[in-house]
Amino acid sequence: MADLKQVKPEQLSGNAVQKIGTDWMLVTARKGDQVNTMTAAWGGLGVMWGKPVAFVVIRPQRYTYEFVEASETFSLTFFDDSFRETLNYLGTASGRDEDKISKSGLTLAASQDTPYFTEANQVLICRKLYRQTFDPACFIDPAIDRNYKEKDYHIHYIAEIVEAYQR
Ligand SMILES: Cc1cc2nc3c(=O)[nH]c(=O)nc-3n(C[C@H](O)[C@H](O)[C@H](O)COP(=O)(O)O)c2cc1C
Repeated sequence: MADLKQVKPEQLSGNAVQKIGTDWMLVTARKGDQVNTMTAAWGGLGVMWGKPVAFVVIRPQRYTYEFVEASETFSLTFFDDSFRETLNYLGTASGRDEDKISKSGLTLAASQDTPYFTEANQVLICRKLYRQTFDPACFIDPAIDRNYKEKDYHIHYIAEIVEAYQR
């Protein structure tokens, strides 16, 4: 974590709505000796069961889904504006079809076993606590279902932020 300093999750800078929804993040996980990553713009940061947590939602057809399922942990990484094109690429190509990570030019590192990218300006190491596939019967606003024309309901993960780093 060269230029990254460990901080408490409470000390993380930035507004989560902007960081996730506007600036986007990468969700990265390991399966055996392979790593995959994808861009995400939906999710959240907050507190649950007395722990600092991150929420992410992953559609079942994402290759990254298999990696997040296979691992107890994953990372969320946030980048400055100069990585916008890279995040766009990692959110449109699939690791099933190409070696996205080498093509992206990002540098992989790991905290214990959890992969992350050294170019990030914030890194959250997250430990899965809860998973559940969204149930359309629970959509209070029926308009939500329009996001799921293919019935590919997101798998919702709540994960404890066990380590947080920022520049
Ligand atoms: C800006 C942006 C935000 C995205 N947010 C999500 C998300 O929150 N959840 C999700 O399942 N897919 C999301 N995607 C789509 C995946 O990143 C995309 O399908 C990616 O190619 C999956 O790669 P993979 O097959 O290697 O996992 C987003 C894509 C972009 C460009």
